This record gives sequence, C-alpha cells and structure tokens, in this order.
Amino acid sequence: MLFGTPVYNFGMPAQLKAFFDQVIRVGRTFEFTPEADYPYRPLLAPKPVIVVVSAGDAAMLPGGALAHLNYLEPHLQTVLGFIGLTDVTFVRVGDEEHGGDGFKRFLAAAETALDELACRSSGVVSFHSHAGQAKAALDKLGHLS
Ligand SMILES: Cc1cc2nc3c(=O)[nH]c(=O)nc-3n(C[C@H](O)[C@H](O)[C@H](O)COP(=O)(O)O)c2cc1C
Repeated sequence: MLFGTPVYNFGMPAQLKAFFDQVIRVGRTFEFTPEADYPYRPLLAPKPVIVVVSAGDAAMLPGGALAHLNYLEPHLQTVLGFIGLTDVTFVRVGDEEHGGDGFKRFLAAAETALDELACRSSGVVSFHSHAGQAKAALDKLGHLS
C-alpha cells in the first residue's frame, strides 16, 4: 500500500484526512471490544505500507531542529495502526520549497530507498509495483523543480 503526502501546516492535508475519515469506520476497518483499557480491534490484515512524505522545510523531518512540529507522521502511524497497518515505512523528501542541492540529495536518497524497498518486497507484486509508481512520482517531482 502506498501513500504520498505533503506536510501541510504541521500535519496531513485535508484530502488525506478526508480519506481516513471515510475509511476508518466501525465494523469495516475496526470494531469495539469489551476490554476497558483499549476497547478497539483493527480489522485489516497486516500488509506493508510505504508513505512518501514531502516537506517544504527539511527541519520538520525526524532528526531536524523542528521535528517536534511534525504531527503528520505520528498521526499517520496512529490512524494506520488503528486499523491494523503497523508495518509503515516513511520515505522522506525535505527542502522542497528551498530547492537546490539539498533538495536534489533528498530526491536521490528517496529514490534509492524506494529501489531498496521494491527489491525487498519482490515477492509481493502490488507492493513492488506501488514502490515503482512512487519512484515515478519522485522522478516527476525532480523534473518539475
Ligand atoms: C498549505 C501549505 C502548508 C504547508 N505547510 C508546511 C509545513 O508545515 N511544513 C513544511 O515543511 N512544509 C510545508 N509546506 C510545504 C509543502 O510540504 C511542500 O511544498 C510539499 O512538497 C508540497 O506538496 P504538494 O505539491 O503535493 O502540495 C506547506 C505547503 C502548503 C501549500
């Protein structure tokens, strides 16, 4: 499963939030349980998820000086895990708004990471092809810069 998302105002864009608001539904992707401490059970079978994140400022990515302002990744991990998708790999592109060599380095590193993910998942056809699509999207992003 592949997601591509920008960081918008420290979190996910409204379109992606709207997607999760449609997908996360009782009896469809999660159910209630009698357990008092955590009364939810995910209903999706586990499968790997790749999330390609683009941020205008690399400082908001993990390890950056402003990483504490990044609510996108914890939120995504929470909503995906809530429905059973706990195997989440983030591929990050930073400095999209600054451009220059820093941005080019991020694009190259992201392409390498996606190639590695595609190789590792060679037995999982849809995962492989989605990683290929993400790489194509990254190529396009690079050409537009
Ligand atoms: C409304 C809006 C809010 C943004 N907020 C952030 C932000 O909080 N942090 C950041 O690093 N970049 C931010 N950016 C920059 C985007 O994350 C970056 O440019 C991204 O590559 C845009 O992807 P898109 O072309 O799919 O919109 C913002 C851009 C927009 C348009």
